[in-house]
Order: sequence, then C-alpha cells, then structure tokens
Amino acid sequence: MPGTVANFFNAVRPNSSNNRLGVPSKMNKQFSSSSMFLATTSLHGKVAVVTGSSRSIGASIAKCLGDHGANVVVNYVKDAAAADEVVQAIRSQGKGGAIAVKADTSTLEGGQFLLDEAVKTFGKVDILVLNAGVMGSKTLSEIDEAFFDSHFDINVKAPLFMAKAAASILPTPGGRIIFFSSSLTAASTVTPNALCYLASKGAIEQISRVLAKDLGSRGITVNTVSPGPVDTPMFREGKPQSVLDSIAKQNPLRRLGEPDDIAPIVGFLASQAAQWVNGQNIRVNGRLRVIVFQYCAMATKTRIQSNLRVQVPKVEQPEEIWWDGTSSTSGES
Ligand SMILES: NC(=O)c1ccc[n+]([C@@H]2O[C@H](COP(=O)([O-])OP(=O)(O)OC[C@H]3O[C@@H](n4cnc5c(N)ncnc54)[C@H](OP(=O)(O)O)[C@@H]3O)[C@@H](O)[C@H]2O)c1
Repeated sequence: MPGTVANFFNAVRPNSSNNRLGVPSKMNKQFSSSSMFLATTSLHGKVAVVTGSSRSIGASIAKCLGDHGANVVVNYVKDAAAADEVVQAIRSQGKGGAIAVKADTSTLEGGQFLLDEAVKTFGKVDILVLNAGVMGSKTLSEIDEAFFDSHFDINVKAPLFMAKAAASILPTPGGRIIFFSSSLTAASTVTPNALCYLASKGAIEQISRVLAKDLGSRGITVNTVSPGPVDTPMFREGKPQSVLDSIAKQNPLRRLGEPDDIAPIVGFLASQAAQWVNGQNIRVNGRLRVIVFQYCAMATKTRIQSNLRVQVPKVEQPEEIWWDGTSSTSGES
C-alpha cells in the first residue's frame, strides 16, 4: 500500500525487495507472515553457556534454559556439589542436557576453557549468558588496585573477551549474548561504597550497547539484564535483616526479588521470540521504589549499630526516587 511507513523505509533501503521491516531477509525464510505468531520460546536443540550458575540467579537461569529445552553448561568455581545439583535438576526435567564445568570466569583462560568445553560436549554454542559477578563494598578512600581489578576482571574484562571468543562461533543469525548489570546504575542516589561495583556495571552496559550494533549486523542479539535487589548471598552480604526488610518493604510488591523472578526474562531473550529485541537494558526489579530518606535513616542507624563501613549522605528532605532513575516529583513514574 502506498503511503505506509513500512513502504517508505523499504523504498529508501537498498535491496529492499527481499527485506521487510521487522523481519530480516534470512529470517523471512524461517517465519512467513502467517507463522510469525508461532515464534517460539522453545530452546530445543540450542546450547547455552551460563557463567556463575552453580547457585543464585545463575542457577535459576540454567534451570530455566534447560526447562526450555536447551543443553546447558553450568559453570562454577568453588562449589562442585551445588553445580552438580543444578545439572541433575536440568537432566531430571528431561528436556535439555547439562554438564558442570569448573572454570574461573574472572580470567580470559577460564572463559575460553568454558566455551571450549561447551563445544567439545555439545558441538556448538548458541547462547552466552554472562551472569558471574562480584559486588564488594569499599569507598574511594578504601579501594586499592587489587579491589578494583577484582571487580573489573570478572564483571567487565572476562565477559568482554568471552563475547569476543563467542562471536566467532555463535550462529549468524540467531546467536544470543546476555550481559548482567544492576538496576542501581540508574538510581539517582547510591551509597559511596558501591563505587567499583557500579563503575564495572556501567562499563558492561556500554559494552553491550556497542556490541548490539556491531554483532547485530550479523544477526547476533546483545542485551543486558539489570536486576534490582535479589535475595542471594551476594545481596545479603553485610546487610543486617533490618536493612533487608526495609528494602523489601519499599518495593511495590513488598518483597525482595528472587532468582526465579530474573530467569524467565533471560529465557525469553535467549529465544527466537526475542529476535527483534537488541541493544536493550532490561531492568527487572518489580518497579522498586527507593524512599531515600527512610533508607538513609535506616542505614545510618544500622551503621552505628553494626559498625558497617557504609557512608550515608545526610538527606534533609524526604524524596522519592525510583530505581530506574526517575523521581516521583518529576511527574514520571
Ligand atoms: N543479587 C542481586 O541483588 C543482584 C542485583 C543486581 C545485579 N546482580 C547481578 O546478577 C549476577 C548474579 O548475582 P548473584 O546475586 O546471583 O551472585 P552470587 O549469589 O554471588 O552467585 C555467584 C555465582 O557466580 C559464581 N562465581 C563467582 N565467581 C566466579 C568465577 N570467578 N568464575 C565462575 N563462577 C563464579 C558462583 O559460583 P561458586 O559458588 O562456585 O563460587 C555462583 O554460582 C551478578 O552479575 C550480579 O552483579 C545481582
């Protein structure tokens, strides 16, 4: 039909005869317009590598991908028994296969070894989920080079080089890379001890943005998942129950996130149904609202009680800040 937006773009695109908006030419063969709605979240026959998947969010992702039919490489560094449990859980679902691979994915060698083991066992890699990460707590005056490196090695450097290695073996089109950041990168107010963690997560968000364009040209999608507070050992570390309760209450859903709240979005991004989702940073946080005044008051009290090394800025007026960076007083919600 003349005059439609789609016709306009198709007209200005070179070689547009075999191409239509929203469905790249190679994918036209997979989905005719009548079968488009059958685009599936099944991962049957796919191979997924999930870094740091012996417990917490990574374990839930591995099980979710296995439940969708993928063969999953479960990665751990310390806890072999926990990794084996995840493998058994996936195998017992009877949909996808699984192996556990010990590899330190804070190193380039560890990351390469993990990919090599995946190819050796399953013959290929379709999906790379870069979940492993660390979150330490030090302010500017406390950080040293080793602390900085420990964050950037596992949160930034190794994921970048794993993405580089995977880019040459992922299917084109159809490959999937999913990075992990945190909703905190968009918070208006953060505590100073989050310096290295958030600097590293900010870096990974930018890497993801750039690679989405670079690898997107080959049909590999690159996205970032940014959870809010999720009840895992990483999140609980150093926080008294009173602070955990306070953060939970501030969520509209009145609880902390669970690993199973995060895994399904990864399952979706890994699937064919998400073929047109690229370069996105998806904040999965239950729409957490941080009431800065209450949080700071609670944290200050807690610091006195438990001698936590957290410096909390003084807040004169109560202000509502949403964790996605918008303010309730700005009219955005
Ligand atoms: N929890 C939250 O509130 C939250 C919020 C925002 C973003 N995130 C992000 O979500 C991701 C997962 O966080 P989580 O809370 O699930 O973490 P977690 O509870 O600390 O679990 C970490 C997992 O990574 C593995 N791991 C740690 N170091 C590793 C290494 N060098 N090589 C390979 N595996 C390693 C651990 O295996 P072992 O047990 O064998 O060491 C474990 O399976 C991280 O990127 C984190 O930044 C978490």
